[in-house]
Amino acid sequence: MRSHYCGDLNEQLNGETVSLCGWVHRRRDHGGVIFVDLRDREGLCQIVFDPDRADSFNLAETLRSEFVVRVTGLVRSRPQGTTNPDMRSGAIEVLAHTLEILSQAKTPPFQLDEHATVGEDIRLRHRYIDLRRPEMIDRLRFRSKVSNSIRNFLDENGFLDIETPILTRATPEGARDYLVPSRTHPGQFFALPQSPQLFKQLLMVAGIDRYYQIAKCFRDEDLRADRQPEFTQIDIETSFLDEEGIMGIMERMIRGIFLKHLDVDLGNFPCMTWTEAMRRFGSDKPDLRNNLEFTDIADLMKNVDFKVFSGPANDADSRVIALRVPGGASLTRKEIDDYTKFVGIYGAKGLAWIKVNDIAAGLDGLQSPIIKFMPEDVVKAVLARVHAATGDIIFFGADKFGPVCEAIGALRLKVGADLGITRSGWAPLWVIDFPMFERDKEGNLNSLHHPFTAPSCSPEELRDNPDKALSRAYDMVLNGTELGGGSIRIHRPDMQQAVFELLGIGEEEAQEKFGFLLNALASGAPPHGGLAFGLDRLIMLMTGTTSIRDVMAFPKTQSAACPLTDAPGPVSAKQLRELNIRLREKVAVPTAAAPAQAE
Ligand code: AMO
Ligand code: AMP
Repeated sequence: MRSHYCGDLNEQLNGETVSLCGWVHRRRDHGGVIFVDLRDREGLCQIVFDPDRADSFNLAETLRSEFVVRVTGLVRSRPQGTTNPDMRSGAIEVLAHTLEILSQAKTPPFQLDEHATVGEDIRLRHRYIDLRRPEMIDRLRFRSKVSNSIRNFLDENGFLDIETPILTRATPEGARDYLVPSRTHPGQFFALPQSPQLFKQLLMVAGIDRYYQIAKCFRDEDLRADRQPEFTQIDIETSFLDEEGIMGIMERMIRGIFLKHLDVDLGNFPCMTWTEAMRRFGSDKPDLRNNLEFTDIADLMKNVDFKVFSGPANDADSRVIALRVPGGASLTRKEIDDYTKFVGIYGAKGLAWIKVNDIAAGLDGLQSPIIKFMPEDVVKAVLARVHAATGDIIFFGADKFGPVCEAIGALRLKVGADLGITRSGWAPLWVIDFPMFERDKEGNLNSLHHPFTAPSCSPEELRDNPDKALSRAYDMVLNGTELGGGSIRIHRPDMQQAVFELLGIGEEEAQEKFGFLLNALASGAPPHGGLAFGLDRLIMLMTGTTSIRDVMAFPKTQSAACPLTDAPGPVSAKQLRELNIRLREKVAVPTAAAPAQAE
């Protein structure tokens, strides 16, 4: 039906007859001549209908936005002064000979060039129209090209692409499972995989040696701009390689992709331990484009009268930190109040500060609500430790380790962006030497990664001191986003048992849930490890968008629904009966429009 894409036409085709198929982007009637911008995947092209050809001219008068047409015509240069440098085909136009309407279209719910004012819900409800926008097509094309490069790289490096089941058992990755009832086993459920973690380990036991999969993962968790309930991982596993070997291949892959698709050389990625990242930036995924750093000052605050600081300063699980912001002395009272509200979102009880108006003037050169609570030598020691200079503001946070890192870590990013401190460009790094476990509010141990991650000590040492144990995990971080994470795995059943025990999974429960893994580990398991990248996040960063929804064809909303298909939706009583499911009375069947409320 077609000889060329609209967007591919150029002056070299001058004088040739072409056939084009596409959508009517815009129609303009100009003194007896009709202009139509015809659009397809590759771009726009101007078509001219001349009254000399009455048939096609009359038909062109009936064209409306988004009609699908086929046009044949002659490529010719545009008259002097009418070329459009913003359009790839802007130097030429096509004089139409024939026009065929292939499909009519009702008035679109939004104009394709006015999307900025359209709510995301409307865009998602009519996604097939939203995806016609050039920037959406461009991102999907970019994603396809990057996926293809990843496949080629992994193929060239001996990785086999192997699919793993979607209907499976729970894989613990820290989120809730999406469950699927089994008809053939009444009362029993499959879980959709949170990741292919266990299957890829079983493939290593099977001797596959190097595996990859561009895999769909499902996690029922609180959604954010960089999280979707259904997302894609570049999932990788290898045998007989240590951390260095795996991180080396992965770094080469990501560096190669940035070079090929963005012409950006990321260079060698620095490595930072988790402890250092938390100490300096309060985050296990620090954005290194921002130079602001935390300074610990608890030792200086142990004896001050200000309880807000002396309390945490004398508690081993707390931190008192300063964040020096050059140029911040010009912040207004209102701006500081807004930052205080901002850290409040993260649970901070306040935000103390010192403005350094003139460092040479001693205490007289400072402005602060807290220095009155402190002896002069303590204030001076703080200023010296943070290397304060005239024009700075120093913010302070004092609280338990986790909350203060989160609140002042978020402040660091916000102030960095607001004051133009954060550089543009790219700042990749590896974060390594994570703690094996963290404790929840009840004091129980939880895996920081997943329970199959190997510790860097023996089972005995792990049992003796689980709080101090480090894991052999590594995360790749780019511009403050966790792009991927992985680890060397446990490949011996005794170590796996020890970790399960510490996590409070007894022998019986371990057998019931993970018996297949323990059996496999006892059947000749090679040392192995791997990692998984979030493909959506990678493409989001590479295309400079702020939401992974912009790089997915059919994403879900913040409430994990699909406005396009109205999923999730109710099912018939017959289907429920077949599945042996009876809904609890008075619990309304949730619909996409009215998602179930937490009970
Ligand atoms: P992890 O849980 O860290 O590790 O996930 C790996 C990467 O997947 C991406 N990601 C997500 N992207 C979008 N939406 C989500 N809800 C979401 N959750 C995670 C992130 C993350 O870095 N099996 C292990 C990997 C391994 O150990 O090999 C795993 O799944 O970019
Ligand atoms: P207050 O005496 O409670 O009014 O606090 C004095 C100053 O300390 C105010 O600027 C508060 O915002 C700040 N502040 C209170 N709690 C904290 C905290 N946990 N960390 C840092 N600053 C705080």
